[in-house]
Amino acid sequence: MSVAVGIHDLSVATAAHVLDLDLLAAYQGVDPAKYHIGLGQDRMSVPGPDEDIVTMAAAAAQPIVERVGAENIRTLYLATESGVDQSKSAAVWVHRLLGLPASCRVVELKQACYAATAALQAALAQVARSPQDEVLVIGADIARYDLDSAAEATQGAGAVAMLVRADPGLVTIEPASGVFTAEVDDFWRPNGSSTAVVDGKLSVSAYLDAIVGAWDDYRARGGVDYDRIDRWCHHQPFTKMAVKAHRALAAHVGAEPDESQITASTGYNRQLGNSYTASLYLALAALLDEDDDLDGARIGFFSYGSGSVGELFAGVVSPGYRTLRRAEATRAALSARRPLSVAEYRELHANVHADDDGDRTVAPVSRGPFRFTGVEGRARRYTRA
Ligand code: HMG
Repeated sequence: MSVAVGIHDLSVATAAHVLDLDLLAAYQGVDPAKYHIGLGQDRMSVPGPDEDIVTMAAAAAQPIVERVGAENIRTLYLATESGVDQSKSAAVWVHRLLGLPASCRVVELKQACYAATAALQAALAQVARSPQDEVLVIGADIARYDLDSAAEATQGAGAVAMLVRADPGLVTIEPASGVFTAEVDDFWRPNGSSTAVVDGKLSVSAYLDAIVGAWDDYRARGGVDYDRIDRWCHHQPFTKMAVKAHRALAAHVGAEPDESQITASTGYNRQLGNSYTASLYLALAALLDEDDDLDGARIGFFSYGSGSVGELFAGVVSPGYRTLRRAEATRAALSARRPLSVAEYRELHANVHADDDGDRTVAPVSRGPFRFTGVEGRARRYTRA
């Protein structure tokens, strides 16, 4: 008999600061409606110097470990494209900060915004084979583009941690999945660069090609009809992209797009900005937190990572999901961010160090549970706050 496997718990963390896009628009002399309506974004999270993907990933996962315990967690996957070392997995620091057992497999995965979905699929396969195992999957990223670029308003920062296990309390992921890979220069981050290189228009069309290609593969591999999917979560580099994706897929299958199927999923991304690998699962957090009527509903997921890889799959919401969701904590994390002026934001943006700069100490700024304290003997140091 096959085991139901999926997401049992899901927890969100973000950075210490926030920039209101009205301030950015005023500084740039841009109509703020371009951001609020054209991109569908209101604010973006901005990390302090003592935060990075390790601190955000550990902060997202800590409440899950506190709730379920660490003893059955056999694997920790950390997906990111904001890696802090070329060799050592960021997941190893997270493993220590969380106090996970030594008998736990730990690795970092990369393929732009897509990698958390590869991690989720690997986790599902592991639990299907060994139903007593639990797997922690974390997507954590800092989206950084050049100052004064067209992409600047789509920056952001955040992490989402998910516990994958048998008989999940939130969403059972169905086996059918459609994938689409095409090599394209739409977005990448060369070694040594702290900001991404992006061809914005190409990235939008590559994303739309990928959703259509992944859908066709999904259907060819036994995925359900379009009209059997009740809600959708799409990767959201900016929330208007989810609207574009939703319309493109509906047109492809000859359906009328129903935008009420995606509205709830955009609530957190609109406030936090792009969180790359975490963004799709932040959409899921928002949907579960906002919508009280999801018992037995089927959610379609589309994951996109530039470069490019897309995957489309579906999951069914467990009855009783309301008792496990963490809406209060997520809203508290969003409202705890300290508002920045444009001058403060630009200074933080300019002050990103490469570790080749040598040893340094980083003063405490953020209020999260974990901190990056600096570089010693060229090794990064982290501590509990
Ligand atoms: P842009 O060229 O400045 O913007 O950059 P635009 O001129 O295309 O305007 C954007 C929208 O605002 C348009 O709407 C305008 O009409 C509208 P659309 O035609 O698209 O529906 N607009 C207004 N609306 C209301 N009032 C106004 C007004 N003015 C204009 N006054 C772009 C836009 C997305 C290209 C840029 O922000 C960018 O380069 N972003 C980064 C790349 C990105 O996010 N790409 C998305 C797909 S790729 C992806 O998702 C992967 C990614 O997450 C990375 C990874 O995988 O690792 C990025």
